[in-house]
Amino acid sequence: MGGIGGCVINNPETMGKTLRSILIKQSHLGFDGTGIAIIKNSKINIIKSPKRAKEFVQIDHLEKLSSNIGICDVRHATHGRPHLDNTQPLDDCNGEIAVAMEGVIWNYSIIRDRLSEKGHIFKSRTDAEIISHLLEDYIPKNGLLDGIRKTYFELDGSFSFAVIHSKYPDKIAIVNKDSNVYIGRNENGIYFATEIDAIRDLVLEFLKLNFDKLALITQDSVEIIDLKKGIPESFEWQPIAEAPKGNVPGGWPHFMLREIHESTLWLKRAIMTPQKVYLDLAASILNDSKKIFIIGCGTSYHAGMISSYIFRELAGLSPTIIDAAEFTYYSLKEVKTGTTVIAISQSGASTDVLRAVSKAKLHGAIIIGVTNSLGTPLMFASNVYLPIGIGPERAVPATKSFLGQIIALYQLIIATGLQNNFLNEKEAKEIFSHLYKLPRIVEETIAMTQDKAREISEQLYKRNSLYVVSRGLNYPIALEGALKFKETAYLHAEGVEAGELRHGPKALVYNNFPVILIMPKIPDAVEDSYKLISEIKQMGGNPIIITNKGDKTSRKLSKNVIYVPNVPRIFTPIVNAIPLQLLAYYTGIKRGSPIDVPRGLSKAVIL
Ligand code: BG6
Repeated sequence: MGGIGGCVINNPETMGKTLRSILIKQSHLGFDGTGIAIIKNSKINIIKSPKRAKEFVQIDHLEKLSSNIGICDVRHATHGRPHLDNTQPLDDCNGEIAVAMEGVIWNYSIIRDRLSEKGHIFKSRTDAEIISHLLEDYIPKNGLLDGIRKTYFELDGSFSFAVIHSKYPDKIAIVNKDSNVYIGRNENGIYFATEIDAIRDLVLEFLKLNFDKLALITQDSVEIIDLKKGIPESFEWQPIAEAPKGNVPGGWPHFMLREIHESTLWLKRAIMTPQKVYLDLAASILNDSKKIFIIGCGTSYHAGMISSYIFRELAGLSPTIIDAAEFTYYSLKEVKTGTTVIAISQSGASTDVLRAVSKAKLHGAIIIGVTNSLGTPLMFASNVYLPIGIGPERAVPATKSFLGQIIALYQLIIATGLQNNFLNEKEAKEIFSHLYKLPRIVEETIAMTQDKAREISEQLYKRNSLYVVSRGLNYPIALEGALKFKETAYLHAEGVEAGELRHGPKALVYNNFPVILIMPKIPDAVEDSYKLISEIKQMGGNPIIITNKGDKTSRKLSKNVIYVPNVPRIFTPIVNAIPLQLLAYYTGIKRGSPIDVPRGLSKAVIL
């Protein structure tokens, strides 16, 4: 995953400068490796490093590169840790082809095994490398266009990729399956990138490459081909507009809002990222364990808490969920050989998690790491790790990574339940069929809740405190929602178990005190929640309800109802998290909070 770019230009001396500029402008798309490939004297020349773009572009000879044709890549690692061998672009066995890919290929291991058996030598552990080896087989027999089409039809996933081939030294082929690809032109050549902002200053006109299309670009031409039909199609250039005002690439005001909206695409990829072999390995470790702990901090702890409910429901296992910082004091004495610790951390670097992991290992525990960041201490400390594959997250308040963690953990739980026969194939298939719909449902949730969240934030921003209340599987969402208000809006908020509200917290519910109630999807809990809302109203509180669109009663009880799509109960945490993220975001905006960089916090708390 990451960002790709490149150009075919008439002045070879400007190649280094141009690729450098594209890399810098896409540097936020991946921190785990940077590389370029050019064609020089009919030979592919790849320069790469497992470093972030800002360090890579310091290489002395980069600016001096001379070529008319080049591609580049910044990498977010999911398949293979940050390492020179795993850095893109990647070539084929003969060094004739270089490929830069953005996204994920779901069925890569089957293809890789087949190609390995045929004698292809793989240099990396990436999913992307299969593309150059497929092209190596297909282009000589089918020509460039049909060779790429044949390759494309073998790949299942969510991606775009760019190819240069030493036998076609005047062309770049760019394929878009399910990503962003912008192509632009000026009098000196044709340019492309994942982010429009990466080429905005270079070009006069641009086009967006649609899904299932191939673009063949030369110095002065662009041909768009429908990959399914194999025939060229017409297109129109659009004048490039000035960069939209916004602090964040893409014209977004904040990374947090961009990352909430990006959840749709990235969830699709998160579903495709964990590999069956590692899920099964982790599942067998869990099924052989005498005791299981789940640990994490902040948002990761809440994701773990949700999974602890689902482990009971779908895998028949009863892990203990405990905050990583508290683990040493509460649980360490119980850790011995036969204990497994599932350690969750977006950054893979939180000291509290690493400390707990290291102490648990000293007591004989096996570690299953769940992280969005490979090459980190958590990855190295884990016996098995599962990448979340949700793309880089820049805002300190975690949003899309929370959804990604839930998805990775659900996949682990399903694998575990299938292995120990708690779940049968039919049940697992049914759960997966809903899981695959989540990216679309997330998109729908954002569209359904955004305006209402903005509207309700008008009532929240002047308050000093609020409660977020729920029960069952959505109790962790109440905790997570409260955390989002604290981090994002600098507004004190407390997550409260719905029944517990009556045991003390209710005393503060007067004078319009906001109580955000996430309606649980459990029949008896629903009835009790309606009762609770009436009690909140009687006390003079302001109930704000998050519920599914089929709920007719809530609208009679409050004017502040946020409707989310109706999904099976186990997926309600996903749809309920989004309006809370948006509420916290818009309340933060009204309160003038810095949103992405809350004071005193950092993306990973490293002590
Ligand atoms: C804190 C962040 O620093 O770390 C939280 O403010 C985050 O948003 C927590 O949830 C845990 O981070 P990680 O990287 O271990 O998941």
